[in-house]
Amino acid sequence: MTIEHRSNVLIIGSGAAGLTCALQLAEHFSIDLLCKGDLSDSATFYAQGGIAAVLDEHDSIESHVDDTLKAGAGLCNKETVQYTVENSKEAIQSLIDHGVNFSRNKEPQQGSSNYHLTREGGHSHRRIIHAADATGKAVQNTLCQAVIDSPKIKIFENYNAIDLVTTHTLGIIGETNQCRGAYALNRKTQQVESFSAQFVVLATGGASKVYLYTSNPDISSGDGIAMAWRSGCRVANLEFNQFHPTCLFHSKAHSFLVTEALRGEGAILKLPNGERFMPRFDQRAELAPRDIVARAIDHEIKRLGVDCVYLDISHKDPEFIRSHFPTIYKRLLSLDIDITKEPIPVVPAAHYTCGGVVVDNNSTTDLKNLYAIGEVAFTGLHGANRMASNSLLECVVFAKAAADSIIAQKSNTQTNSIQIPDWDESQVSDSDEEVVVSHNWHELRHLMWNYVGIVRTTKRLERAQRRIQLLKQEVKDYYSNFTVTSDLLELRNLITVAELIIECAMRRKESRGLHYSLDYPSSETEECSDTILTSVN
Ligand code: FAD
Ligand code: SIN
Repeated sequence: MTIEHRSNVLIIGSGAAGLTCALQLAEHFSIDLLCKGDLSDSATFYAQGGIAAVLDEHDSIESHVDDTLKAGAGLCNKETVQYTVENSKEAIQSLIDHGVNFSRNKEPQQGSSNYHLTREGGHSHRRIIHAADATGKAVQNTLCQAVIDSPKIKIFENYNAIDLVTTHTLGIIGETNQCRGAYALNRKTQQVESFSAQFVVLATGGASKVYLYTSNPDISSGDGIAMAWRSGCRVANLEFNQFHPTCLFHSKAHSFLVTEALRGEGAILKLPNGERFMPRFDQRAELAPRDIVARAIDHEIKRLGVDCVYLDISHKDPEFIRSHFPTIYKRLLSLDIDITKEPIPVVPAAHYTCGGVVVDNNSTTDLKNLYAIGEVAFTGLHGANRMASNSLLECVVFAKAAADSIIAQKSNTQTNSIQIPDWDESQVSDSDEEVVVSHNWHELRHLMWNYVGIVRTTKRLERAQRRIQLLKQEVKDYYSNFTVTSDLLELRNLITVAELIIECAMRRKESRGLHYSLDYPSSETEECSDTILTSVN
């Protein structure tokens, strides 16, 4: 028999978005909080640079809005940008109130926040509040502790949500489809359990694991996007996958990010012969938005046939470098790279999913009682290219919006009478061919990197589409015949997301922001629209 859990609100994901939402709701509701690994295992934990917010009196909401719109290359939803930026100060204050220890100025500065504010690409002011170069760790650890201390939040670590349960999947037809919970694989027992709830919040993060090289942790496999899509929600703008320009290029350290704040504090990008190249591509040079810097690096690497380019901050005072970037300094020193003396080998890698599950400013999706917050969601904030450090801000602002919307419906919450049926395993057996899963994981991530990467062509996208269809069929058969495992679930989701990314990319007959096609090298018009896909599920 399937073990069944019941709560008012089921939150799937324990990054900045899921934790913030849980803490906002804890006073009012019983909450089940699911995560795939440990509570702290999330992209949030690895965030380095910081969180963008208007905190300095010389800065302004208009300026932050304007920079975000420019970086978004004509596709941001202005209302969403305005809403997010207007709420940025309050979002940061809530993190400070929970106890996040942001870096302070050594000496109080006149007319500015007492917190040290750094700069990143696209921002015309210093507005990034940070905890040295490990902001995510400070945020994640603080929020995790608050959640652990909350008696109303029940934490389920090592649970892999499989699919949402809706009234229609339960056979209750004739009324608007509603989300009523989810099935999840308990990774320790390998048993599927059910979670019944009146409200479900997807906070599952992004999908950058679909690419071979990524700054993201293993949990970023697009599960929430795939689950929402299978339940009939629309998704949008998945062609805009952001590639971070500077991930460490080193055989012993994959996925290690070298924060953009280094460039904000004066680091210079150089070719192997020491020549600075960014001014040739954009007058903002190293501080141009990410799409421009990543494409310039990709161009130079391909032009010269080299493995990487170099990021050099060694001209700055060694004490400044060690105190502002202690994590990067120590990590690289352990790999025999002394950043106070020598440049850092870097390459671009998949970093952020700008598109996602379509939501409104209350974080509600197309499916009643289902919310999506954080990187899994498409709010319209990022347009065709996310500006640095706007993501953690979005997590906190929209987690609060979702919580407010759920709290507003408190008087309507009744006890949950819906019984979720047992997980049916009668038709499946244990697999004797795990190689199908491992092989297809590898093939998928390779083909996405090679054919759907920084620079695209219609031919490459068509090639990728054909191969995805084969993988999809193979995994569908496999899923129908064998008991589920975490790897199989993630592969199934990654294939869905890959298919959606390619579909979005093929529909966009222009180059804009992060989507660059050699067949359509220019932007169509000033006025352009989002790529919205409607689920037929
Ligand atoms: P995550 O933090 O990714 O959390 C996802 C959660 O969902 C995890 O708990 C995971 O276990 C859970 N989950 C996923 N699938 C399932 C499932 N099927 N079942 C159960 N649980 C599931 N942004 C900034 O604004 N500033 C920065 O400085 C910055 N630096 C970054 C540096 C790195 C290296 C990376 C990778 C990203 C960075 N970003 C930064 C982006 C930002 O960190 C993320 O966009 C943000 O943290 C996403 O938060 P989230 O809560 O949406 O998801
Ligand atoms: C970084 O620190 O460079 C990452 C910032 C971000 O992704 O917003």
